Amino acid sequence: MADKVLPSSDEIHIADYGCGTGSNAILSVKPAVKSFVDRYPGRSIFVHHVDQAENDWNTLFDCAAGQDGYANLSSSIRPVASVGSFFSMAAPASSIDVGTSFGASHWLSTQPVISSKGTLWFADLQGEARLELKRQAQRDWESFLTLRLRELRSGCRLMVSTLGTIADAGEVNGICSSGRHTYRAMYNVAETMVNDGLISEHALRDFIMPIWFMSREEALEPFQRNKELADGFLIERAEVAPAQQNPEDIFADQINAPQEYEKSYTGFVRSFTVSTFRQSLLRGETDQATEANLNEFYDRFKTFIRNGAGKYAFEIWLLTIELKKR
Ligand SMILES: C[S@@+](CC[C@H](N)C(=O)[O-])C[C@H]1O[C@@H](n2cnc3c(N)ncnc32)[C@H](O)[C@@H]1O
Repeated sequence: MADKVLPSSDEIHIADYGCGTGSNAILSVKPAVKSFVDRYPGRSIFVHHVDQAENDWNTLFDCAAGQDGYANLSSSIRPVASVGSFFSMAAPASSIDVGTSFGASHWLSTQPVISSKGTLWFADLQGEARLELKRQAQRDWESFLTLRLRELRSGCRLMVSTLGTIADAGEVNGICSSGRHTYRAMYNVAETMVNDGLISEHALRDFIMPIWFMSREEALEPFQRNKELADGFLIERAEVAPAQQNPEDIFADQINAPQEYEKSYTGFVRSFTVSTFRQSLLRGETDQATEANLNEFYDRFKTFIRNGAGKYAFEIWLLTIELKKR
């Protein structure tokens, strides 16, 4: 994608929205940096990493400067932190040549306040609760796109890749979403904690993960109702496809080593749920009680995965959108 971008000034600006701690983000951004270094040697390149204040920025910048990083490709590269939500302006207007966002834009801007009996995940929600959450998700996605449109330079490009959903008549709501067995397993584990009096029934009933994995059609909806987006962007690619590696279970390589499998699986789930759980579902009366709840949840989850013997395969479909600013 970066190869197609012709910079319109002496400075090249790349932004990665929801960069995280770096091990993936740096590898994703590096080819874009290299494309500009090869084509425009000596030109200043700024790489803006966008994430929340609590991100592990030290690890991110260590990765950027490390052996596999991009900072050593040329002396005129500058890694930059853009700290705060990507639901507000993350770079000056008309400044970005290439924007990327991997595995981040499915997070909603705020914790939804929705009663969700029987699930903690958007895909199994029913009726008005589902419509309400979808409205929130669509507002957020539209706002994400509008902000990026403002930040991009004319003729420049944005790629968003994140978890997606496909049609499946045999599933709840006629959709099959990435991680469906995982989120259902998480609900089952939380239910055992309710049954044992560790968390309250209403805490689970009122908790929903602040995420929405879009189908291709949902991802394109803002372009149909928002003229600024329809006029501003050319849609170059929009698809939901199985992940390139192990789409039927991202931990498939470890399936014959059960201890490794349950450890990797639980560690991964912990990494993307712990901050949300700490603030809501598993929050106790004291910090100590919260930490005890968190440890109990992930211990139980690990046992659940072990006993499931591959039944809770972590499936992944990826939504990829590539846009060019007109
Ligand atoms: C699963 S990680 C993905 C990290 C990295 N892009 C990757 O592919 O490995 C999601 C990242 O999105 C960030 N994120 C979620 N919501 C965000 C928001 N509103 N603003 C900025 N970053 C956000 C999280 O802090 C987290 O670092």
